[in-house]
Amino acid sequence: MVKVSVSILSADFSNLKKFIDKIPNADSLHMDVMDGHFVPNISFGFPVIKAVRKIWEKEISTHLMISNPSQYIHQFAEYSDTITVSYECSKFGENINKLIDTIHKEGCNAGIAISPGTQVEKIEKFLKKIEIVLIMTVEPGFGGQKFREDCVPKFKKLRKLQKKKGMNFEIEVDGGINLMTVKKCDADIVVAGSYVVKSTNPADAIDGLKHQSRLKEFEK
Ligand code: DX5
Ligand code: ZN
Repeated sequence: MVKVSVSILSADFSNLKKFIDKIPNADSLHMDVMDGHFVPNISFGFPVIKAVRKIWEKEISTHLMISNPSQYIHQFAEYSDTITVSYECSKFGENINKLIDTIHKEGCNAGIAISPGTQVEKIEKFLKKIEIVLIMTVEPGFGGQKFREDCVPKFKKLRKLQKKKGMNFEIEVDGGINLMTVKKCDADIVVAGSYVVKSTNPADAIDGLKHQSRLKEFEK
């Protein structure tokens, strides 16, 4: 069964605990960190993740949409189980190989995210050493955007590579996930933000996503 990771980005930050208490069936919490440089939006940083760590015992997965993650891995690792960096931060001089090693040295699982315009081939050489590949199905920066269908072929490509080379990474999808779009992605972990946050019963919304994902509309 897929794991559902809930992004708190669209939640009411004046009462985050109230929301988190409503989603005990989430497999992890997804923390979207944005710096106003890598993406045209600023979200939150250490204080919020630290606070969430105090009230959430399961996995915390931190998704860094920042230009210079190497400067901050140590601090994020203190409150995270998984740290995912954006492949495209390499445009700002970041060394992806080194970032993966640093994340591992800090005791966290390492993920690499690719934006809609980046093809799977770009990250092929890192696949054997990471735990997660995050396929962004929206342009990073904002919650509540529409799912990008043009990203769907990437799942098939990744599965093929994974089988061919016997690799163990998990495939995660992030962006525009709802009951319809979840069926299109051959993912192990599904990130859902606004769909869960805005539903009247967030726990039911999570169960719904798990159920729908079993329908698998993608071709194997
Ligand atoms: C986008 C973020 C996503 C997003 C998920 O930059 O990485 O995690 O907020 O939210 P929804 O599910 O609303 O697209
Ligand atoms: Zn995210």
